[in-house]
This record gives sequence, C-alpha cells and structure tokens, in this order.
Amino acid sequence: MSEMQRITAAADWLRPRLPQAPEIALVLGSGLGGLADRIETPVCLPYRDVPGFPLSTAPGHAGQFVAGQLAGRSVICMQGRFHYYEGHGMADIALPVRVLKALGCRALVLTNAAGGVNYDFSVGDFMLITDHINFMGANPLRGENDDEVGPRFCDMSRVYDPDLQALARQVAAARGLTLREGVYLGYMGPSYETPAEIRAFRTLGADAVGMSTVPEAIAAAHCGLPVLAMSLITNMAAGMTGQRLSGDEVIAIANRRGPVFQQLVADLVAAMP
Ligand code: HPA
Repeated sequence: MSEMQRITAAADWLRPRLPQAPEIALVLGSGLGGLADRIETPVCLPYRDVPGFPLSTAPGHAGQFVAGQLAGRSVICMQGRFHYYEGHGMADIALPVRVLKALGCRALVLTNAAGGVNYDFSVGDFMLITDHINFMGANPLRGENDDEVGPRFCDMSRVYDPDLQALARQVAAARGLTLREGVYLGYMGPSYETPAEIRAFRTLGADAVGMSTVPEAIAAAHCGLPVLAMSLITNMAAGMTGQRLSGDEVIAIANRRGPVFQQLVADLVAAMP
C-alpha cells in the first residue's frame, strides 16, 4: 500500500462521519485537551476506529478526533497525539497530519507542554514556536517518498507560517497576554533531559524543549499544510531551578494554565483567514 493509499483510506472513512468539512486542524497537547470540550455539536471519533491508525498510550491524552464548531469555525481536533517515545514509528506520527490535509484543512495548529530552556521564561508562559531543532534522531520523511504526498527533499525554511505567527502575536496582545517566542527543540524522551543536555541545547539555540510537535511539523511542511505552533511552558528544564522534574507537575501546570491557553487558541481560530 502506498502512503497516499493509506492516507486516502483513513480520510475516506472519516469524511462521511464529520459534521462538516473542516477548515482548521488542531493538535491538543498535554492538559490542553479541554479545548475539545468547547467544541459545539461535537462528533468524537476514536483513533482506534480509524483504518490504519495506531493506539495512543500517553497519560492525559484521550486519543480521538473531535470535530465540530469552535469560535464559529469548522475545526477538527486531535485530542491526544502519537509520540515517538511511545514506540510509534515516525510514519505513524505523520499519518494523521497527512489525513488532516487530505480532509481539506487549510492550517494546522500544534500545541504542546514544554520545558523552558530560556532563562527569561517562567512557568506558565506561552511561547510561539518560530522554528525548531529536530533532536529526535529520526525524521518522518525517511524511507521511500510518495511524490503524491510531497517532495523527496522538503524545504524547511518556513515551516511555521509567518502570517499565522503575526496573527498569534495580534491575538495575544488583544487579550493582554504575553506571548514569548522561540525555538522548540524536539527530544526523543521519554526520560527528561539531563542538566548537561539542557545547557547544550541552550547553546544550540533552543528556548524550549519537548517530546512532540517536530515530527508533525515536518509532515505538515512536506504535504504543504501551514503550521502555527505554541508551547505552554509547564516547567523550567532540568538543572535550571534545583528542583526535580515530574510528569505530574507538568500535567498540573498544564491543567492550571490550560483554560487561558485554550482561550488564546480559540481566539486564534476565530481570527484565522
Ligand atoms: N522536557 C521535555 N519535555 C517536556 C518538558 C521538559 O522539561 N516539560 C514538558 N514536556
């Protein structure tokens, strides 16, 4: 089966089940899945029912598409995503993004919980991702290329759409929210980084670190889907505060700041072209 056949099989299964053709796709990170509860006339479609989809196992991730109306726009959310550290292949992580493109989505909003690497940041900050460093040691485009999906050698100079970034700045300012900006470094996980790694990543130019988003952004760039990505800084990265890191704390902060982050994303969806 070609990659395009795999994409088409999933998209053909989903399309008749959606309330309307989606315009905007959203991937909701840890603790941010609550945005899906704000969707009006929601239709929930678990990944396990979608042909060719893997199963999601990460805590705090529900593992379903939720389609409907958000802020007056037709959206489809991924409530839960596939992470490389769960053992999924990179192709499995790319698949939903390609399916969202096949469904006609014109933009992809990626959200995540991340560790702050930049000392100017604080826990609870929102960061607009302006670029990334792929430190996962793998790439979803490795292997045979399906030219119907995208080009063999994919330009990565504008993965994070400049117009959507400008819109995010405007929308945050209109709410009086400080929006940090920076480079997200994708780390394979599932262990957190060591303090030495965090110092190295800061030297490399990272402002935040996390275990998702990069494979999805690469897949989106490949199939020509404009991306807007934002991180919620749930903790300062290893070695920066003298405190130890815990997944529970990441989820607690994500839950605490989640509602404001969700409002920001909802405003953005409303303002999107
Ligand atoms: N490192 C990696 N991933 C994360 C972190 C972190 O500090 N916080 C939330 N996700």
